[in-house]
Order: sequence, then C-alpha cells, then structure tokens
Amino acid sequence: MKSASNTTKAPAKKSAPAKKSAPAKKIAAKSGAAAGLRDLFEDSLKDIYWAEKALTKALPKMSKNATSEELVAAIDEHLEVTKEQVSRLEEVFRLLDKKPTAKKCEAMEGLIKEGESIMEDTEEGVVRDAGIIAAAQKVEHYEIATYGTLVAHAKILGLDEAAEILETTLDEEKEADGTLTKVAESSINIEAAEEEEED
Ligand SMILES: [Fe+2]
Repeated sequence: MKSASNTTKAPAKKSAPAKKSAPAKKIAAKSGAAAGLRDLFEDSLKDIYWAEKALTKALPKMSKNATSEELVAAIDEHLEVTKEQVSRLEEVFRLLDKKPTAKKCEAMEGLIKEGESIMEDTEEGVVRDAGIIAAAQKVEHYEIATYGTLVAHAKILGLDEAAEILETTLDEEKEADGTLTKVAESSINIEAAEEEEED
C-alpha cells in the first residue's frame, strides 16, 4: 500500500474565462495569504492560551461567590474542564513545533474584570448568582467565537489534528454555555426577579 500517494482529486479544470489575470502574481498572493493566516492562527492560539490560564484563576473566585449549589457545581466542573483545555492548547503548540506561549488577551481580561465588578456590586444570593451566570456566559460566548475561528483556520491551513483537538474544546464550551442557561432558567433568574419585587 502506498501511503503517500493518496492524491486528492484534481479539480476539474474549467476553461478559463476570458479574463486574463497574471497567474504568477496570483499564486504569490495566495501563499502570502496562507502565511498570514498561519500567523493569525498562532497569534490567536497564544491569546486563548492566556485566556484559559486566566480563567483557571477567575473561576474559583466566581465559584466562591456563588450561592446556588447547581451554579457552584457548574463552575467547579468547568474549572476542571478548563485545566484540560490548557493542556490541550499545549498539545496544539507541540503539533506546530512551537513553545506554548501566552499573550495577554485584552478581551478576556475585560470580561473577567466585568465579572469581578458584578460580584462586588451585588448582594450575595440569587442576584449575584444571576450576575455570575451573565458574566460566565459572556466568557463562554467569547470562547465559542474564538475556538470556532481557530477550528476553521486550522482546517484551511491543513492542520487537521489541531482542528480536531480545538473542536473538542469548542464542544465543551458550548456545553458549558448550555449548562449555565439551564441553571439560570431552573431557578436563579426567577428567584432574582421575585426578590426584586419584594423590595
Ligand atoms: Fe475554555
């Protein structure tokens, strides 16, 4: 069995339309774009690596501030998942032959700070829980957007193994987001509204 002869189907060459663009220039531009995309991909990887590591410190604070057992459990579970995600990113760096490097993610720093001020500005209990869920879901949505793009870019760049690893994390982020929605819908938001009415 020839292993390397897995030639992909050559795309059917349609007769080129009348427009004659300089082919050499086109190829150069394409490879430049691929190199640029690779840089963008690696940069985004460093960014999310910083973000995940920051979350391993932020999530315990959120858990400590939460009252609902369900919410505490959801956050604690996601903390463990996040630690695995950090290792998974290190694996992706290894696949790229790069040293895992963290680059400060301004967006995640902002989201974490927002979460901290919500916790400071609310009274402990259902209202703070609702605020923690809101902050955590913003974090999840940011991560879903980031990993979604990383998966797409990895595929375009032919980094299939990296794409698969990143997709595992993407699925976990979506699951965490869904869990938070369930926790919110089950009781916290309703109780928070009732508490508001009592005031
Ligand atoms: Fe994450």
